[in-house]
Amino acid sequence: MIPRFKPRYGWAEWKTAFTFWSRGNIPQYEKAFAEKFKREQGVMFPHGRTGIFALLKVWELDQVEVVCPAYTCVVVPHAIVLSGNIPVFVDCEQGSFNMNLKGIHRAITEKTRVIIPTHLFGYPMDVHAVQEIAEEASRRYGHKVYVVQDCAHSFGAKWRSELVTTYGDAAIFGSNISKLINSIFGGMVITGEEALAVKLRVWRDKNLIEKGWLKSLMRLFYFVAVGLAFHPNFYGFVHWLERKGLLNRFVKYYDEDAIDFPTDWNHAPAEIEARVGLVHLRRYDHIVENRRRLANRLVEEMSGRDDISMLPFEDGATYSHIVALVEDRDLWVNRYRRKGEQLGILIEYSVPSIKTYCRYAKDGFEVSDSYKDRTINFSTARE
Ligand SMILES: Cc1ncc(COP(=O)(O)O)c(C=O)c1O
Repeated sequence: MIPRFKPRYGWAEWKTAFTFWSRGNIPQYEKAFAEKFKREQGVMFPHGRTGIFALLKVWELDQVEVVCPAYTCVVVPHAIVLSGNIPVFVDCEQGSFNMNLKGIHRAITEKTRVIIPTHLFGYPMDVHAVQEIAEEASRRYGHKVYVVQDCAHSFGAKWRSELVTTYGDAAIFGSNISKLINSIFGGMVITGEEALAVKLRVWRDKNLIEKGWLKSLMRLFYFVAVGLAFHPNFYGFVHWLERKGLLNRFVKYYDEDAIDFPTDWNHAPAEIEARVGLVHLRRYDHIVENRRRLANRLVEEMSGRDDISMLPFEDGATYSHIVALVEDRDLWVNRYRRKGEQLGILIEYSVPSIKTYCRYAKDGFEVSDSYKDRTINFSTARE
């Protein structure tokens, strides 16, 4: 069974994971990461969502509106609500997975203080247009409207040949094992503003709990377990366990009835995570090149079929997920399973339609509602 994704760990990651005595990896990883995506400063967090939460806290935002996609990972609005703020959802642009620009315009009010453009599945959105909307809103209401690029999927995606990470006040990344680059778990905020990075570090040191070697050890166990789980000899069994719901604790990352964070959301990042991230980052260009090649091939293969549609291949996209829309998702999932390949079904909700978020839904979300039952993503483990 080919898994729907597979962390690309090689000998160098295994070696560094076991280098227990090595210290000072977090600042090194932050520096290398910021350099790679062309911002001056990087601050590592235990998860991407903790990075969003920290940004909203250091900007001292409370009960303000944060504009974000209706079609995104639910942990993003979780970070907004848990930080004491209000998510305002924007539907997708027709024919794109990203936010509709007119919808962003409509969502802005005098309470808006942040916009989170998300480059979902690695497709870049128009960073210039978002920047203009934020600047116009800042002028109109006389206060700063921040822009936080959500690059958890996109990493180095480019809009008109420019890295999306170079726009806005900050960019956030998640780097768990399903991401393009991963540090076992982990997240990063990068920014061009030194003062902001200093505030984020101060916030981190004050609010995150240092778990020391215990967290490193737990992460090492997880790293080894992941290495085994994705091994071709075992993955068939792991897939069976997943289908029986026996791995929900590890793979189900949200609960319809709760807006919450995992218990380790505020545990300081571990040295082992930074070490693995630092080594894995060196593989970034190679990983993205392979993704793009695979995406291009699949777009060509599927073109002309009337039971599946894929967005045209885009040069600037990084393809964290190679996504298609189909009418009968179960049929596709079962068909590929019989061929020995697992399809993913991300993202299978539109956030405003989740029970806990209904009260934040002002508008209709026709496009994102239509995606939630129709997306499949092809395995990225087969390149
Ligand atoms: C679009 C998007 N943004 C942000 C995040 C947050 O990342 P983390 O899981 O590290 O908190 C994710 C997580 O998968 C995501 O998919």
